[in-house]
Amino acid sequence: MAKNKKVVLAYSGGLDTSVVIKWLTEKGYEVYALMVDVGQGGDLKEAGNKALKIGAKEVYLVDAKKEFISDFVWPALKANTKYQGKYALATALSRPLIGKLLASKATEIGASYIAHGSTGKGNDQVRIELAATAHAPDVEILAPVRDWDMSRTQELDYAKKHGIEVEASKKKPYSIDQNLWGRSIECGVLEDPWVEPPADAFSWTKAPEVAKEKHDYLNIVFKGGVPTALDEKKLAPVDLVKELNSFAGKHGVGRIDMVEDRLVGIKSREIYEQPAASVLLTAHSELESLVLEKQLLNFKQMVDAEYSRLIYNGQWYSPLKDGLSAFIENTQNLVHGTIRMKFYKGNAWVVGRFSDNSLYDKDLATYGGDSNFDESAAKGFIDIYGMGLKTWSKKKGKMKPGSCSCDQGECK
Ligand code: ARG
Repeated sequence: MAKNKKVVLAYSGGLDTSVVIKWLTEKGYEVYALMVDVGQGGDLKEAGNKALKIGAKEVYLVDAKKEFISDFVWPALKANTKYQGKYALATALSRPLIGKLLASKATEIGASYIAHGSTGKGNDQVRIELAATAHAPDVEILAPVRDWDMSRTQELDYAKKHGIEVEASKKKPYSIDQNLWGRSIECGVLEDPWVEPPADAFSWTKAPEVAKEKHDYLNIVFKGGVPTALDEKKLAPVDLVKELNSFAGKHGVGRIDMVEDRLVGIKSREIYEQPAASVLLTAHSELESLVLEKQLLNFKQMVDAEYSRLIYNGQWYSPLKDGLSAFIENTQNLVHGTIRMKFYKGNAWVVGRFSDNSLYDKDLATYGGDSNFDESAAKGFIDIYGMGLKTWSKKKGKMKPGSCSCDQGECK
């Protein structure tokens, strides 16, 4: 099929994607700007008008908040996903959704191209392109910011020359991406891993030293591995995450400062604010400890780690992800219960847990006299469990490394 000049662009309203509209238009493309609302905040309508002013043919605004939480964040929560033990993957989880929506819009309007504003150094280009390709394999992808040869200053000059308003002035200190699940902050002074993040890097969380003076408790209720209520209050997924972001943020919970390994082989210093995510991930894995059988729990931890890597590396739409998801979903059937947490000065920790499906048996666990655990059975268990070790231990002083003393003559 002959190619047309229609291109669906993932548009954020920021400097890069605004300049992309003009740049593509100048090259003869018709730009259709797609804005995906994953709870990043800001005035998206106004940003849409700006896109039209710059030269976009059409702007589409998709409210994807509900889908983002239910179909991307909740599955990740069920897998306790934290990249390299810390990052809750807020940015990484939004990209497959954006890629999918780009592809379906391109298919709907018959566009031959999809474009995004990611650079060549990050993970987002990979995530968006793989997700788009998984849904529209024949649509060609353009990445102007990766391909054009403009420095930041040249880009600003280009914007000025073409009358593109840039509220991101030369002073804007960080590169920020945010959605309901968290806020990712990089660049500027943060590029020196020795430098403590300045106060202005944060906006969702209080610094622990000025956080609320009084501690709080919160009960988090889970059903089927996902939270359904905070204390007595039943909440829809999007509302629950919003409310918890603000509750935990006031206590200074959810700040992450890390050096992470990007897919493209670069180590990068990243700051995250993820109050709701940090709390829910702690609560969810605590509940699993209570209700999942030991071997399942151990094995699941390996699957969870792989699932985190896979999300980070842009493999959301892949057969491996589908297979692991099926396993993870299956483990969540019994993950009901309530986790009680305490919040104080930058910390949120578990102080109580309850579940009808709890495998905790006080009669077995107690050190009190009335336990129904048969301690006499322990001796036989240890004899057999330790058999191999005992055999090795008896033999070890007599073993000869690197040679064999058999007289068959064949080993030499
Ligand atoms: N390093 C994180 C990731 O790859 C966050 C990237 C966020 N992008 C940004 N413009 N700050 O998922």
